[in-house]
Amino acid sequence: MLVTAKDMLKKAVAGKYAVGQFNINNLEWTKAILTTAQECNSPVILGVSEGAGKYMTGYKTVVGMVNGMIEELGITVPVALHLDHGSYDGCLKCVEAGFSSIMFDGSHYPIEENIAKTKELVEICKKHNMSLEAEVGSIGGEEDGVVGMGECADPQECKQIADLGVTMLAAGIGNIHGKYPDNWKGLSFETLAAVKELTGDMPLVLHGGTGIPEDMIKKAISLGVGKINVNTECQLAFADATRKYIEAGKDLEGKGFDPRKLLAPGYEAIKATVKEKMELFGSIGKA
Ligand code: 13P
Repeated sequence: MLVTAKDMLKKAVAGKYAVGQFNINNLEWTKAILTTAQECNSPVILGVSEGAGKYMTGYKTVVGMVNGMIEELGITVPVALHLDHGSYDGCLKCVEAGFSSIMFDGSHYPIEENIAKTKELVEICKKHNMSLEAEVGSIGGEEDGVVGMGECADPQECKQIADLGVTMLAAGIGNIHGKYPDNWKGLSFETLAAVKELTGDMPLVLHGGTGIPEDMIKKAISLGVGKINVNTECQLAFADATRKYIEAGKDLEGKGFDPRKLLAPGYEAIKATVKEKMELFGSIGKA
């Protein structure tokens, strides 16, 4: 059964580790992440961007697939199904479809509008027993057409949003989605510490987990980050393993063209990436 992200993140912040959000795109992704979480006895958050939701034909399909898999695979670790960077309408659709968690990304609105919309969603989530992630200060890079410049959030604005009663807060601290450019300045721990100071026990969310050096991840966790999002790294691992399989001509040997064989190396590569991240985030054995 799906759970909200509330308890798992409260425990993570108290225990100084982070729960990984891994974005899903299809059946292979979902199965790889769920089985790895179970093998690692780790809580996990499945992230679904609006684009990925559309790709999988809609949120109801996603809910059906994930719930079915949890049952058929005998997954007993806590699993939250979470909308990633949702619009207001996207959030409402996921509430209706049966997600257990949503992110409303109002970071591109003026702060007053972000507050007003987040406030409405706080009430809706309360009613449906769901967790809610809000965002202040847009995350850089490009993800499904959402482009941010990698701002550092205003800690006072973070406090305003946190005080609305959201479950977790994504604050921009110089992080960006996708690969980091060579001239990236690194995370702003100054911003993170200032946000933490004003938001207390609120679990903070680090987006753009791909390519952040290990020492920065660990420092971010020590400063109150309880959820870390990883997407691109699984995509790169999947693509790399699939390319190697094709380049080695394996699809031309016997029944190597069977999609269940063709997609297997990519599937294993996602599993290895997820396990590596769970080890780094410290969530293994914390289910
Ligand atoms: P990456 O694609 O950089 O790992 O970021 C994922 C993310 O933050 C999803 O919201």
